[in-house]
Amino acid sequence: YDTKTPTYQTSDPTSFAFTSARERWPAIITGAIDDVHRTVSSISSSDADKEKLAEGKAIVSALASLKYELQHNRALTPLPDDSFPDIAGYNAELQARGTPKWHDVEWLYAECYLYRRIATLFSMARDPYWKAYDIFQRQKMSTFKSSRPAVLELASRYREIIEQIRGSKNHAVVDASDPAAVEEAEKVLFTEMAEICLWGNATDLSLLTSLTYEDIQKLQGSNARKESEKNILVNDLGKAFEVLNRAHKEGKESRRVDIVLDNAGFELFVDLVLAGYLLATGLATEVVLHPKSIPWFVSDVVPRDLQALLEAMQDPKAFYESASDEHDGKSNGQAPAPLSDDEAANVKFLFDDWSALHAEGQLILRPNRFWTHAGSFWRLPKTEPDLLEDLKESELVIFKGDLNYRKLTGDATWPASTPFVEAIGPLGPSSGIRVLALRTCKADVVVGLPEGKDEEIRATSGGGGDSGARKWAWSGKWAVVQFSDGKS
Ligand code: F6P
Ligand code: MG
Repeated sequence: YDTKTPTYQTSDPTSFAFTSARERWPAIITGAIDDVHRTVSSISSSDADKEKLAEGKAIVSALASLKYELQHNRALTPLPDDSFPDIAGYNAELQARGTPKWHDVEWLYAECYLYRRIATLFSMARDPYWKAYDIFQRQKMSTFKSSRPAVLELASRYREIIEQIRGSKNHAVVDASDPAAVEEAEKVLFTEMAEICLWGNATDLSLLTSLTYEDIQKLQGSNARKESEKNILVNDLGKAFEVLNRAHKEGKESRRVDIVLDNAGFELFVDLVLAGYLLATGLATEVVLHPKSIPWFVSDVVPRDLQALLEAMQDPKAFYESASDEHDGKSNGQAPAPLSDDEAANVKFLFDDWSALHAEGQLILRPNRFWTHAGSFWRLPKTEPDLLEDLKESELVIFKGDLNYRKLTGDATWPASTPFVEAIGPLGPSSGIRVLALRTCKADVVVGLPEGKDEEIRATSGGGGDSGARKWAWSGKWAVVQFSDGKS
């Protein structure tokens, strides 16, 4: 049930997999070692903490061994059984692959294995403190804190939009008695928010911080959005809006949208902005969020990240005005500027809104271990039929980010002009699932481009030229928004 098209391998010097395995992964493990080491240093050596301290030190040394194995191109070793059922699948696959070495292995499998292996170091710890530990949590929260300008900007706009929709303000931009005008405004805002959600995935947040506050009409002409739209190579948002709008107009009772989440912090924040908007307009009656069950690809959302985000927003002054973490490299020794009362009230408005949606069961978090399996989503129907059935209940399943896109397409070496619906295999035609991928390109695989487009971008500066590498697709500068309706 995997694609027959060959997948990207860490042995291929023209693939981003090559540099990932040799440079990025060791750097990520180094970051993890620093994090645990720092935590270990803060644990007292009292008798009560003895075991905790010893386990922390053992985790540091296990991480160091993993880094050694990786850098010295050793074979991937079977994962220890931490009593979660996915371990057997990881190990069976490892064996079937003939116990590969780090520098000559399938990219997707090896990268998932890396995070799953790190997770075993914690899941097998005896001390509950380490069992629940997330090596990436500090980083996730400090990155969210540093996106303060964009968060405040969006909070203010979100509040105004939601208040207008609810009619609690008198100066509605469109005439509510004119359905066509309402529909058009909803479409514009849907597109705007989905695009913010898309770019929220790029590491470069400059687009968002440069957005200024404007009313709905001005938003439509927003230069920032228009500028960034040039970098969206395929944009199927119109099709996705049609689907949601139709269900709304037909008065379908339950209109569910699913979001297969990617990163925590700012990206999760903008995902919630979109979710809140869909619920406020009635474009959805329920939004189901799918997080990861273990710390994953550094910044992916685990359930605790949602909790942490909401806690920060509950008391925005306390969060933003507290001194920055002196170890995160971002502190300049100065106290952060205080939040104005309006700014704090806007963030608090979002907190209240989202907490209420959550409490009322309109905003739901639904973890499933499938999302942290090693395989691609081509395996969904066979390995997790219940999840497949559940997703069929949804009007639209939005897959966020680069890794989810790699998994949708099997991370295979498709020609760039391969139709998206073909590259997603069993989740394509006849799957009964409507897929929308919001993806900024940070890896090799790209499909669904017009004939010649890949070659055209390769020929631009930094695009890869005739090196054989699709370098343009590695940086997050370009994006694709692709839709599949799941019918025959
Ligand atoms: O391609 C580089 C990379 O780090 C991959 O390891 C991973 O697929 C992706 O980027 C992570 O990005 P995202 O958070 O968008 O999935
Ligand atoms: Mg991610």
